[in-house]
Amino acid sequence: MSANDTRDRVLDHSALNYDGYRNALTDQPLPAALVDMTLFEQNLRELLTRAGDLPLRIASKSVRCPALLRHALAFDDRCRGLMCFHMREACALAAMGFDDLLVAYPSCQPADVAAVCAAVANGASITLMVDCPAQVERIAAIAAEQGVVLPLCLDVDMSWHLPGLNFGVYRSPVRHVAAALAVYRVIAQSDAVRLEGVMGYEAQIAGLGDQVPGQALKNRLIRLLKRGSVPRLQALRGEVVAALREAGAPLRFVNGGGTGSLDSTRQDPAVTEVTAGSGLYAPTQFDHYRDLHYAPAALFALEVVRQPDAGRVTCLGGGYIASGGISPGKAPVPVWPRGLMLEPNEGAGEVQTPLRRKDPAATLPGIGDPVFFRHAKAGELCERFNHLLLIRDGRVVDTVDTYRGLGWQFV
Ligand SMILES: Cc1ncc(COP(=O)(O)O)c(C=O)c1O
Repeated sequence: MSANDTRDRVLDHSALNYDGYRNALTDQPLPAALVDMTLFEQNLRELLTRAGDLPLRIASKSVRCPALLRHALAFDDRCRGLMCFHMREACALAAMGFDDLLVAYPSCQPADVAAVCAAVANGASITLMVDCPAQVERIAAIAAEQGVVLPLCLDVDMSWHLPGLNFGVYRSPVRHVAAALAVYRVIAQSDAVRLEGVMGYEAQIAGLGDQVPGQALKNRLIRLLKRGSVPRLQALRGEVVAALREAGAPLRFVNGGGTGSLDSTRQDPAVTEVTAGSGLYAPTQFDHYRDLHYAPAALFALEVVRQPDAGRVTCLGGGYIASGGISPGKAPVPVWPRGLMLEPNEGAGEVQTPLRRKDPAATLPGIGDPVFFRHAKAGELCERFNHLLLIRDGRVVDTVDTYRGLGWQFV
């Protein structure tokens, strides 16, 4: 199956077609970002199904819009808590009334830790991530000074370290029980921190496509490694959790997973909750998984401003390249109207994005018409737009602030 076939199949999930989205945006200034709420909710139902009976924590970095985070949390009783990416973000969300905030990425900037202490003293539930004694000592010193007890979560590395290949990511150095206990001992020495959670994020399953067009052999290898990875990471997560409990850690939760791994994460007996976020918007990053079926809920629309020749149009804006390892898959993809592609030599440009016909039968949009694109990653789209237009039944039903629209910048 070619990349185009796969992508077209993904678009079959859409309730609206080009005319539907174009009509919905009549009178809206372009560029604009939109979320199709019918598809967002369809995706949330799918995530809940794949979470089995477990509570689903929403990954805020993959949404970056308080109104949609609130919508997801109110959608089902099993949607519980947020996985945040920054301490100041957690404080800002707590001030808006969000509860049960797990900051999943360690940092110990004194002013930020102090802000968390103040929020916790005020009744907020914010848990900070650690993976080494130095972080614990810094956080504990500030918490002691502020007279609060901060809940902590230990990040355990779920990667599979093979000779010459790290099948996973480089984040936590905690790779075995002894390392986990060593961090726990430092936590237990302080009255100002308490270990309440363990997180083991299997990035190599959750975030790695295994049906990428044009790499059949690599896909097979990735699927093989994914299958081999699951029992190993479950064994490690189970051993670490058991050892910490035995050592006296009052664990409240064990977190695992992401959009691409819920099917296996929910089967880990040690896991008490799963996390997902990207599946709500379903960016192109998630098009190429054999077993995932999420609908493209988030789009952005650019205006066609020029027609350089009979086979091409040029849009204003568009150079919203996703983070991570550099590859063509990090570029946005034009999806509506069908049959257009980026101009390979130029890609998605800083200010202008030329498109050409991929399908010779495609009708080119005219000057002033919108072209709808999908971003490669989920929350990053919101770093380019102040607002999201929420679409339901073919019309804009609300306009909501993104983090950027609120002036929030954390990383
Ligand atoms: C620690 C952690 N948990 C879970 C996720 C999964 O998030 P998503 O469902 O948005 O892929 C991520 C994403 O990078 C993560 O870093």
